[in-house]
Amino acid sequence: MKVETLRWSHNKLEMIDQRILPTAFEYVSYDSAASVAEGIRSMVVRGAPAIGVAAAYGVALEALRLQSNSIDSFKSGMEIGFTVLAQSRPTAVNLFWALQRMRKVWDSIVAQTPQQVAARLLEEAHEILAEDIRINRAMGAFGAELLADGTRVLTHCNAGALATAGWGTALGVFRSAVEAGKKISVIADETRPFLQGARLTAWEMVQEKIPVTLITDNMAGYLMAQGEVDAVVVGTDRVAANGDVANKIGTYMVAVLAQRHNIPFYVACPLSTIDMNIASGADIPIEERSADEVKGFRDMHWAAEGVKIRNPSFDVTPAELVTGLITEKGVVMQPNKNKLQQLFE
Ligand code: MRU
Repeated sequence: MKVETLRWSHNKLEMIDQRILPTAFEYVSYDSAASVAEGIRSMVVRGAPAIGVAAAYGVALEALRLQSNSIDSFKSGMEIGFTVLAQSRPTAVNLFWALQRMRKVWDSIVAQTPQQVAARLLEEAHEILAEDIRINRAMGAFGAELLADGTRVLTHCNAGALATAGWGTALGVFRSAVEAGKKISVIADETRPFLQGARLTAWEMVQEKIPVTLITDNMAGYLMAQGEVDAVVVGTDRVAANGDVANKIGTYMVAVLAQRHNIPFYVACPLSTIDMNIASGADIPIEERSADEVKGFRDMHWAAEGVKIRNPSFDVTPAELVTGLITEKGVVMQPNKNKLQQLFE
């Protein structure tokens, strides 16, 4: 099954609306940086690499929208577009990575006409999308080697095709393992409050016919204690220079439990998710989302009215709990600053 999370169609960006999956499967269409930023903020698109690809298209769409303006108004409009996109979500570094890459392309042809700049930026967005799928395939091949035939692997949130341009990071590892002829089965944490595990990971695995069992987040420890989990593979939104890993809220709990039960804890992580400018996880900005997500789901609210609510959307797993980082350049066991630095040499 090919999931086209983002696609270019009739000079617009179309993205699967992940707020309504799996009840409905619909694309939403985007034609400007501001509209793409709103799509990222409202979680039509989510998942670190997918957010990066969307932002790249947001820049290209803005350039196409403004290409008939005077050079000065083109430039000032583009600056606003970059700013609006950068403010859409704070944690996934792929967003800033993609904006930086698009800016570099623009800087290299700044003397060209707006039309030429727009065409080149669109080309770059297409390249970022295609590259993301190639990278996921490479990570998948390395990660699949870590999973023996028969592995029961637990994952948290959705690090699948829906969180990327296709194939996925953690779920890409599962897809690659199956492609290599291994029989594996997946345990999907529900992932409160936004239910990316129940709605998105379960949906992807069912479509793919990879055996999947859904549990609520508080069941992981019980299953591990029963000897029903052989490995954990998750994705990440940002890895600090020392190997600390930010991922969906609840990942830290899973990592602590995995260590307690001697279960390997792997993180699938493209190089674009490693932020060498941030020394440790303590410096990673953690998004706080709306209290409504914790009160209930969609229109159904079950929390007592008036109760104080917290909704940190991500947590940080210290590097010492990470067995290995699965990257497109290979698996980095027991990640630390030196090993991460070598990936960029
Ligand atoms: O809030 P989300 O759904 O954007 O959070 C997504 C995650 O935490 C994923 O695990 C992470 O982005 C890796 S996706 C390959």
